Amino acid sequence: MLPASKSIPKEMLPIVDRPAIEYVVKEAVRAGIKEIILVTHSAKTAIEDYFDTQFELEEQLEAKGKNTLLAQVRDILPHDVSLISVRQHRALGLGHAVACAAPVVGDAPFAVLLPDVLVDCDGLDEDLGIMVERYQASGAAQIMVEEVPAERVDQYGIVALKGGVPVPGESTPMTAVVEKPAVGEAPSQLSVVGRYVLPGEIMGILAETPRGAGNEIQLTDAIASLMERAPVEAYAMRGRTFDCGNKAGYLQAIFHFAARHPELGEQVREMMAAELG
Ligand code: G1P
Repeated sequence: MLPASKSIPKEMLPIVDRPAIEYVVKEAVRAGIKEIILVTHSAKTAIEDYFDTQFELEEQLEAKGKNTLLAQVRDILPHDVSLISVRQHRALGLGHAVACAAPVVGDAPFAVLLPDVLVDCDGLDEDLGIMVERYQASGAAQIMVEEVPAERVDQYGIVALKGGVPVPGESTPMTAVVEKPAVGEAPSQLSVVGRYVLPGEIMGILAETPRGAGNEIQLTDAIASLMERAPVEAYAMRGRTFDCGNKAGYLQAIFHFAARHPELGEQVREMMAAELG
């Protein structure tokens, strides 16, 4: 997302009127998660500030009687949700980022949401919520997957399954997962989307996971080790993904969420129709 992300974190780029990170945090909240941990670094303090109180702004809005805006600025998250942030001091990979949250997570099960990807279930039950329920019912880790074209398997973690591809909304045992396999060498076209429900024991595994693809500590490799001692399932998502880590995906997310925006949606749909006109 350069050059836009040169001086602000890409997670703070707006999708209509809210930063991308808010969509991801709210997805976790809709899934019933009450404690959110941001793994961040020194160049991304804007993210922590966004979820904090902004006294001056609130005072100004209050003085001007702008109560609707005031409520929107104040009530980003429900009051029973807490947000903690931890720092990743060195960029050693996704597995390392997850391990940075170990002192807060302890040995409790937890979910991982990668903020580059937005997931929208468009009014259906939240995929992540279903994954949490499935974990609670079976104890099997849940990895959200979706099919990708064969020529793009080298951009994702790719899973191998025991049986056929599960129907959307269901999960099935995984037998392997590989990080960014070469095109033609992938075990399937089912890609890891960036939503995981994992047991606390993976933190211990991560602590011992050596650097893998891209010389980084890969969450994928820790999941492959977890699979040797505990059940891991691939959950076939029902919703849609928007990869905001690239320009086309980011624009698609804007079109999608703008067209469904409670105040602007109708106007936006008319504008889009006129543009296509
Ligand atoms: C990460 C994961 C990969 C996953 C992807 C989803 O890769 O390592 O397994 O498929 O996110 O977006 P990254 O995109 O950080 O390279």
